Amino acid sequence: MKKIGSQVTIAIDGPAGSGKSTVARRIAERLGLLYLDSGAMYRAVTLLAIADGLAADSPKLIEQVKTCHIEFEDNGKTILLDAEDVSVQIRTPAVNRLVADVAKVPEIRHEIVKHQQRIGAEGSIIAEGRDLTTIVFPNADYKFYLDASVTERAKRRLADLQAQNVETTLASVAAEITARDEKDTTREHSPLRAADDAMIVDTTDKTIDEVVDFIIARVCESQS
Ligand code: DC
Repeated sequence: MKKIGSQVTIAIDGPAGSGKSTVARRIAERLGLLYLDSGAMYRAVTLLAIADGLAADSPKLIEQVKTCHIEFEDNGKTILLDAEDVSVQIRTPAVNRLVADVAKVPEIRHEIVKHQQRIGAEGSIIAEGRDLTTIVFPNADYKFYLDASVTERAKRRLADLQAQNVETTLASVAAEITARDEKDTTREHSPLRAADDAMIVDTTDKTIDEVVDFIIARVCESQS
């Protein structure tokens, strides 16, 4: 495999359950890139809202976002909110329910996007989320949009939840994913959409490894 150049940005967007986090994490390991899980940052802000019982668009939350410290350790595996490890807390059902409302507040997005761009300026990176190819890194070297059917995405999410001993059903996970898709794609600011220059990858019938290999092949072939 060809060695990746000194400053490369790979941006991946897609809906919940499209596989982008797992895929991006593995590509980061294989190519030695920094990994940025942008959704984790919106999830950390959501924890701030829950802790203080604040509405997603409350001025107090917006102030807190400007002064809080969100950092990643262990190449994205651990997220620290004001020096506290919140990697597990950000994945709870309470956060799942509120995060899309927090992520639609323009002032919050503005702060988080600035932070993500600072992280991106530090070196070669693979970043994933909903607006990485369109807003955060519009000049990314490589852009991909991962998608999959709602049923397939719900099956994947259900397997994750069952592994964590969370009791739920496929129908309820599918309903949650559909509701989140609706919020993410119809919000006024930075809605989820495929950038015009992004390569669309349907992962419905593909394994994680197949998607990883496909993206790495695209990146490497354009470098040769
Ligand atoms: O990828 P995720 O499920 O951890 O994302 C959590 C929420 O954050 C999701 O509802 C969409 C939102 N999000 C966003 O608006 N922009 C991003 N770049 C990443 C996530």
